[in-house]
Amino acid sequence: MSVLIKNGRIVTGSEDFIGDIFIEGDHIQGIGKNLDRKADTVINAKGMLVMPGGIDPHVHLEMPFMGTFSSDTYETGTRAALFGGTTMVIDFILQKQGNSLQAAYDEWQGRASGTAVGDYGFHMAVTDFNEHTKEEIAHMIELGITSFKTFMAYKGALMIDDGQMVRLMQEVKRAGGIVTAHATNGDMIDTLIAKHRSEGNLSPWYHYMSQPEITESEASGRFADMASYTGVPAYIVHMTCEGALNAVRNSTRRNQTVFVETCIQYLLLDASLYKQNFDGAKWVMSPPLREPKDQTALWAGINQGLVQVVGTDHCPFKWEQKLMGKDDFSKIPNGHPAIEHRMELLFSEGVNKGKISHNKYVDVTSTNAAKIFGMFPRKGSLSIGADADIVILDPKEKHTLSVNTHHMNVDYSGYEGWKLTGKIKTVLQRGKVVIDNDMCFAARGDGQFIKRNKVKGQL
Ligand code: URP
Ligand code: ZN
Ligand code: ZN
Repeated sequence: MSVLIKNGRIVTGSEDFIGDIFIEGDHIQGIGKNLDRKADTVINAKGMLVMPGGIDPHVHLEMPFMGTFSSDTYETGTRAALFGGTTMVIDFILQKQGNSLQAAYDEWQGRASGTAVGDYGFHMAVTDFNEHTKEEIAHMIELGITSFKTFMAYKGALMIDDGQMVRLMQEVKRAGGIVTAHATNGDMIDTLIAKHRSEGNLSPWYHYMSQPEITESEASGRFADMASYTGVPAYIVHMTCEGALNAVRNSTRRNQTVFVETCIQYLLLDASLYKQNFDGAKWVMSPPLREPKDQTALWAGINQGLVQVVGTDHCPFKWEQKLMGKDDFSKIPNGHPAIEHRMELLFSEGVNKGKISHNKYVDVTSTNAAKIFGMFPRKGSLSIGADADIVILDPKEKHTLSVNTHHMNVDYSGYEGWKLTGKIKTVLQRGKVVIDNDMCFAARGDGQFIKRNKVKGQL
């Protein structure tokens, strides 16, 4: 099968020109002006943006968490991602404390393999670092899992202490991987949760009050310090606030690089949503939404190159599941749905409103994640030989987000009624048209597990 995309505005992290792309099989075989190639399918992309398929490196599909499972399966979640222009996701395997990494890998692949519609990879969340785990790190890297996630919160379930963190970092550095962190101070948060509960303050607002900015800035600085000491490549997931960003900014003064991911919700939504009684549960996530001044800092951080990635932390729960916490905010499953909307939201609110350039958009939605996590230039790139993962976006088309039209397996939208400018029209995954005009042509099991390479800790 061959495809010729003609006369599109081709945008990458560094280029922006009108041209054609020729695809044969899974790969891009030609890029240029007026390409004279015969193809089975010709797509007229005049007036459209043609960009690398999105990579969302932070999603939780079918994840066991807080007594339930996140509601999107690998099938529904990756299909929704494709509708929104995200052709690859990186999900999180969670080691069970007391068990091996291999057991967790087998369990997660059991759910994803043969069911995912879009391409996927895994981070390995190390929740119990011991002598046995240490021996498994190099093997995980051979399996193509080159990033190791740590939780500095959720004590008793996922959190590791600083001693385990340092030993994990030393081993991951030796083996050629990267350590990532949910960087918040778990002990402080647990103390605040207990205080609010004992005072009878049980609404979603107190979820926000239990995780003040300092819990994130302190842990981000501590994580950066431990990464500096061990020399391991480091990445902070879902950063929300100015204080945490300043902790990373500080680390640059000793010539350290700490990669930073924020998520679309932290750029666009703020903590005032928690004031709406229990409806605020839709946005109960950790860390919580913050203040307008934090949004300003994060947008600036993107333009300053301090924030390299915009993900989603997609972790959807149906309303019935959110109701598990109707009498106690600490029992509301943490997470919100966004996998489908990241690319269009960031385009509409970021590029179309002049906050970021087209090139920056491609970097933060695709290319940087591919580079940081060992997939470039196979993924995240429009270049000869790259996987033909391509998004064709109409920059002018207007549309409205709603639970009635989204494809995620969740019965509300965190963005109900948002009017966006810029719509994903066509998506190719490894050379095949998988989305066209709101229809999906990819099937259950079409998604491939992408083995990732060792990482360099550089862009
Ligand atoms: O609220 C969130 N973020 N839920 C998913 C788990 C995590 O901490 O990333
Ligand atoms: Zn987290
Ligand atoms: Zn997460």
